Amino acid sequence: LKRVSVATGGGSYEILIGHSAMAGSREIGALAGDGGAVLLVNETVMRLHGAYLKESLSGIDIRDTILMPDGEEHKSYGEAEAAFNRILKCGLSRSSHIIGVGGGAAGDFAGYLAALYMRGIGVIQVPTTLLAMVDSSIGGKVAVNIGAGKNIVGAFHQPALVVSDIRFLETLPDGELANGLTEAVKHAFIGDEKSLRIFMDNDPQSIKDPAKLEEIVCHSARFKASVVGHDEKEGGLRAILNFGHTVGHAIESLLEYRGISHGAAVALGLKAELDISMKLGWLGKDEHALMTGLLERYGLVPEVCNLPAASLAEHMRYDKKNRDGRVSFVLLKGIGRPVYGEHVDDRLLMEVLDGIFGRRSDGSPGGLS
Ligand SMILES: NC(=O)c1ccc[n+]([C@@H]2O[C@H](COP(=O)([O-])OP(=O)(O)OC[C@H]3O[C@@H](n4cnc5c(N)ncnc54)[C@H](O)[C@@H]3O)[C@@H](O)[C@H]2O)c1
Repeated sequence: LKRVSVATGGGSYEILIGHSAMAGSREIGALAGDGGAVLLVNETVMRLHGAYLKESLSGIDIRDTILMPDGEEHKSYGEAEAAFNRILKCGLSRSSHIIGVGGGAAGDFAGYLAALYMRGIGVIQVPTTLLAMVDSSIGGKVAVNIGAGKNIVGAFHQPALVVSDIRFLETLPDGELANGLTEAVKHAFIGDEKSLRIFMDNDPQSIKDPAKLEEIVCHSARFKASVVGHDEKEGGLRAILNFGHTVGHAIESLLEYRGISHGAAVALGLKAELDISMKLGWLGKDEHALMTGLLERYGLVPEVCNLPAASLAEHMRYDKKNRDGRVSFVLLKGIGRPVYGEHVDDRLLMEVLDGIFGRRSDGSPGGLS
């Protein structure tokens, strides 16, 4: 097992990474041994990996298993109350844990319940998507959705332990893998050229090899751990993780979260923000070509046309990351050299957005093609 340590204000926690890490780790039992645990598992993961989960957790006092259906709508403020009632009924106390098994939705929901139940109990994150392994399980941001918006109600609640078991990725559909690859590639763009190597040396097929996925998870986890270790509560540096997300969120919001995955929107956002960085003269043409080429090679960037630049810019104005009413960007001054809190001149922004999302002369309809 590989181990990555994440520093927090009050201490640290470990991320265990490896194939069959669940079966091979004693840490979950050691943590959940005292006060017992409730298992919160995504339904699809339970169907595909239930027997393995049961076997790996056999020595642990699991008081109840809550199944969470697929779909972002179940990561909701409304559904949290029923879960709290179940957790109380089976007698979880301040020394107990919630074990969250699934993608980012299950992880965020488990973390949210643990953050609030009895003013905070431990959460063990067992991410089962690549995105959750490289991103959402690390850093302690937990949240649920309300009718008016996504991830609006939440907390910073650091996990007691993260177990990234590569075995789960064997059943992950290609589209979900692409979502995780986009975040991992983003980490490499803002992290360092060395972690880009694995993407440069592989192709969309060969990268699915479990040993390579493990290497990607290790690189990405180490990078995210170092960033959140320096800035636990998003006071500054952590903002660099939003590279690609200012434009990405605007696309999702304009399309009302329909017909485009988060990963695809972020990949388009990365492309736009790389273009802005180059047009400002901050990013060399070669580095720009290398990075946009990788996004294309892995098929991460969908064809999108006829999204009006002015509407995209309007959606950027409502981004919760903005400060002082101005749209804030993360841009690159080179591979591994991000800058955050940058404002972009309107003319340049329109030029870049028009270039990527503008009207096609063949009269294609708007949206994704
Ligand atoms: N807390 C954070 O810092 C943070 C960061 C990024 C994203 N998020 C949140 O994460 C969520 C997105 O996470 P996600 O992309 O993992 O999506 P997800 O949790 O919705 O999972 C995507 C799909 O993958 C399936 N799945 C999960 N594991 C599987 C496996 N091993 N084999 C086969 N299928 C599997 C699930 O059934 C689901 O349909 C969003 O709610 C987002 O807001 C949180």
